[in-house]
This record gives sequence, C-alpha cells and structure tokens, in this order.
Amino acid sequence: MKAVITSTAKYLPDSVLNNHDLEQILDTNDEWIRTRTGIRERRILKDPEKATSFMCSEVARKLIEKRGITADDIDLIIVATMSPDMIFPSTACLVQKNISASNAWAFDLSGACSGFIYALHTGAQFIAAGTHKKVLVIGGEKMSAVMDYTDRTTCVLFGDGAAGVLIEPGTDEEHGVLDARLYSDGKGCDNLCMPGGGSLHPTSHETVDQKLHYLQQDGRQVFKSAVVAMADVALEIMTRNNLSAKDIDFLIPHQANHRIIQATAERMGIGLEHVAVNIDRYGNTSAATIPICIAELDEAGKLHRGSSLILVSFGAGYTWGGIYLTWV
Ligand code: UT7
Repeated sequence: MKAVITSTAKYLPDSVLNNHDLEQILDTNDEWIRTRTGIRERRILKDPEKATSFMCSEVARKLIEKRGITADDIDLIIVATMSPDMIFPSTACLVQKNISASNAWAFDLSGACSGFIYALHTGAQFIAAGTHKKVLVIGGEKMSAVMDYTDRTTCVLFGDGAAGVLIEPGTDEEHGVLDARLYSDGKGCDNLCMPGGGSLHPTSHETVDQKLHYLQQDGRQVFKSAVVAMADVALEIMTRNNLSAKDIDFLIPHQANHRIIQATAERMGIGLEHVAVNIDRYGNTSAATIPICIAELDEAGKLHRGSSLILVSFGAGYTWGGIYLTWV
C-alpha cells in the first residue's frame, strides 16, 4: 500500500528580518547574502513564549481542517526538528496535546535539514505496513533560537517556520510515495552541529560563555558535500525509476543555498521553472523547507493527479536523501 499526501499546510511567522535589517547589526551586506545564498529575507518567531511546537500545532490544525477530519482520526504525529521546544518531552507530544489528538502516538525525528525526508519515509512505512491510516508528518524549526546573531557566517542563513503533510493509504500502486533513498555519514558531524546542551556538554556558565548553545557550521565543507550528495541522490532516484528530466514536474530541493539548488537542477537536466525555490523569502528553515515548498505549490494549484515530484535534501549528520512521489 502506497502512502499518498492528502493535505498540505504551512505556518510562517509574520515578522520579517531582511538583509538590510542584518546590515544594521552585523558586518554584512545585502549583496553578499543575495549573491552567495539567494536569500533576501527570512521569518522570525518573535514571541518568546512561542516555540517550534506552536508553529507545528498550527500546521497540524490546518492539515486536519483542510482534510475535513478531526484530531481524533490521527494515528501518529511525527515532527522533524533540530530546534525542539526542549530536549524532552518531544515536540510531537506537545503538538498532540495542543490539538487534542487523543488516539495518536507521537515522536520527534532528529534528521536536521533532512528531517522531513527522513520523517516522510518513516511515516510512509507505517502506512505501507497497513497498521496506520492517518499520519501527520511535520517539519518545524525556530532556528532563530539557536542562532548567534553576532556570527555573520551562520545567522544570515536561517529562518523560522513549519509545514507538513497528512499521509494516508492510497488506492493504487501508481500514486503516492514510490521510492526513497536515505543516507547518513557521521564523519561530517563536526562540520555542522550544536555542541552544547546535550549530555556531552550540559549547559553551564562555561558552555554559554563559549557559545556552544548556538549552531556552528563550516560552510565551505558543508557546501562541497551538499552539492555532490544532493545531485547524486537525485540522479540515483531518476535512474532507479527510469525517469528523464521531462518526466519530473517539480524538483523540491532543501533550501540552503541557491547555488546548491541550481547545481542539483543542472545535474538532473531540469529547467529552473520546474524547481521549487523560496529561499529568497524564508532562508533556510531546516526541516521545514521542503514541506513549505510542497504547501506553496499545492496552494498555487500546481499539483495535479499524477504530478511527479522529486524531493532532495542534505543536512547535519551528515544526512541526505531523496524521495520520488506522485500526487493524487
Ligand atoms: O542546510 C544545511 C546544510 N547547509 C548548507 O548546505 C550550507 C552550505 N554552505 C553554504 O551555503 C556556503 O558555504 C555559505 C553561504 C555558508 C558561505 O558561502 P561561501 O561562498 O562558501 O563563503 P565562504 O565561507 O567561503 O566565505 C567567503 C568570504 C569570507 O571572507 P574571506 O575569508 O574571503 O575574507 C567570509 O568571512 O565571505 C565572508 N563572509 C561574509 N561576508 C559578508 C562570510 N559570511 C559573510 C556575510 N557577509 N554574512
């Protein structure tokens, strides 16, 4: 049984932080950020009382409402995030509480920027096994909470947001999540991480002084690996499924850098008109980038029965992967 996407939704906070705002607080400039990354602005969840679970709960409510079901119909909630409200309990449990999904079980999945792809593949297994009928798969991040706004090499890149899909069993073998290739390589662990706050460096005055509670990235190293891995996995998905560029309606890549997106599309032979791009408006929202793109394409009426999508991502871990699916 294939898992099909039956509802999509997104939540972006209203507050906009644009490149010119960052020029006021950092030694950076709009031209550098735009030409190196493609980002013009990003959204920030400013309310200190609200965090990732708030945005994911908004997404969950919309997914349920759009499908015309109730929260009691949900069997499972998977939240992909690297910026959970707290280490435990899981953000997914907080979402379950907020929407009163009393029949669901819920867990977080830690796959960084590949979190949504990992979570969609995981959720699809529960549908394929026939044990679950309605699974919410949500990617959500309050990246502003783990940014050092004095570090121009990282804070200009990331933004806040959440989005997700409802998956259910399809009625045929031709539509839905048709193929997935997921990878990880822990050797990349030091190049993109948040070292503080875990059991290795529990939060202390010292870890805070050393800024270990912020995301740290060796951008150049990650860039090199991401360009190769995203294109390779996209081509692998195409080969495994006998797809040529003309068979693909939309490439939906993780939105970390416009140059990485372009390189992936070029290797696949796909024109940019078939590539979902919103990095200019939201920056890198980590696990939320791909479902935000899916929700926007859906809202714009661009997804029809049979539309074929390839999702690809790369992130901390390293983690990377691709999914091939067709729309219902
Ligand atoms: O989503 C998870 C996966 N993450 C990624 O895929 C991100 C991958 N990496 C990247 O996207 C890029 O490496 C960055 C956008 C992070 C950086 O772009 P880059 O072209 O690799 O720049 P760079 O790190 O090589 O830095 C070039 C110069 C440096 O100055 P020097 O050493 O050449 O004098 C930096 O200090 O740009 C400087 N720089 C900045 N200048 C103005 C770095 N950040 C900034 C900034 N504004 N914000």
